[in-house]
Amino acid sequence: MERLYSRAAKMLARNWREGVVSEGIHYAFTCPSPPRYRHQWYWDSCFHAIVWRHFDRSRAREELRTLLRAGRLDGFIPHTVFWHNHPGWRRAPFYATNSFRGTRTTAHIQTPILALAWEIVAEASTDEPGFATEALDQLRLHYDWLAEHRDPDGDGLISIIHPDESGLDDSPKYDGVFGWMRHYLPGYFWLVERSRRLGYDSREIIERYDEHIEDVMVNVLYSLSLRALARLLGPGPGAEYERRAERAERAMLEHCWDEDRGLFWDLAGRDHHQVKVSTWSSLAPLALPSLPEEIGRRLVTEQLLDGSRYHAGFGIPSVSMDEPSFKPGMHLLRCWRGPAWINTAWLLVPAIRRLGFTDEADRVTSSLVRMVDRHGFREYYNPVDGNGLAARNFGWSTLLVDLLENEQPLPESRRPLEPAQPDGDGGFRR
Ligand code: GLC
Repeated sequence: MERLYSRAAKMLARNWREGVVSEGIHYAFTCPSPPRYRHQWYWDSCFHAIVWRHFDRSRAREELRTLLRAGRLDGFIPHTVFWHNHPGWRRAPFYATNSFRGTRTTAHIQTPILALAWEIVAEASTDEPGFATEALDQLRLHYDWLAEHRDPDGDGLISIIHPDESGLDDSPKYDGVFGWMRHYLPGYFWLVERSRRLGYDSREIIERYDEHIEDVMVNVLYSLSLRALARLLGPGPGAEYERRAERAERAMLEHCWDEDRGLFWDLAGRDHHQVKVSTWSSLAPLALPSLPEEIGRRLVTEQLLDGSRYHAGFGIPSVSMDEPSFKPGMHLLRCWRGPAWINTAWLLVPAIRRLGFTDEADRVTSSLVRMVDRHGFREYYNPVDGNGLAARNFGWSTLLVDLLENEQPLPESRRPLEPAQPDGDGGFRR
């Protein structure tokens, strides 16, 4: 364990970037995996900060402050920020920017977990208690922007207008919705161009076209974040965000839950049709403390314990193994079509444990420890044989450290942690 912690701390430290851009704005964040992922990504940064708090609380805070600094005055916070490097010409077409040149950020969003990460880092910030309240106005603006621009039908669920806005870029659940414009196909470039021509006015895009989704995983993390924001704001000002979270959770139960199949489905297009492809997103509501227990138990027994679905040798597959699209191994530019990712287990394992399936929670966690021990912190892993795949030294795979630290479920479990001590060798010791 000691070795795992030390490897995680050293790797995050190696991926750490700090500097000042021409306008005098300071940045400090962790690259997901240089050189392939050398920019700042929204949800990666939140995950990194959650892990950094075990090693260096000031870096955890700086990473989140940097993300906030990349946002606009109206509350929009981008999916990717190109602080010190412009996107290379090869990858530029895959970035949803306003224009090809001179842009520091993309114009689209990513799963909005900033308030959740902020609360977790604030709870550990006994050395700087002011952190909990220093950005409340900006955090409110951010979640108000999301409600205003991404929920035009007012059903409480926010929509994504590009597949990669969830962070699950090429998940097969998006194939039918985005068709020839899905991520990693040349048509994605047209999707970006269409959004550019409409100035990324998401209300208009959602009203005019059918390529948008109320994604279950996105809304689960949105709701957990709204609840975190409500707690940060306290009773009174927090009540409105609590109400929004309840509304999103109710909407998922009413419109996404499929009693027959025992899964939650995303809602797509203007007619809100259910997208019946079983991916880990269908299980994500497990992370909601408000989820009725009988639904949680069904998700575990019928899905996570079923060897033909999600009960794999290593981690939790991103797509059910009985889906025709399931591909566990390495496929060029294909990442969310089967491989196991550590953020998935980070979200689901505490819920599995909370529901009393302790052996299963332990089994999944120890399979992750074995994978990381053998292959290091890779971007994702083959759930069948545990092989490490794609990028190396991948930041959020260190969430395993957080999972091991928090034996209790989120969110009640979040206890303030004493930070690790430097070991004099660039790493940290607990
Ligand atoms: C990949 C992942 C996305 C992540 C990004 C940076 O595109 O699909 O979720 O944010 O890499 O790590």
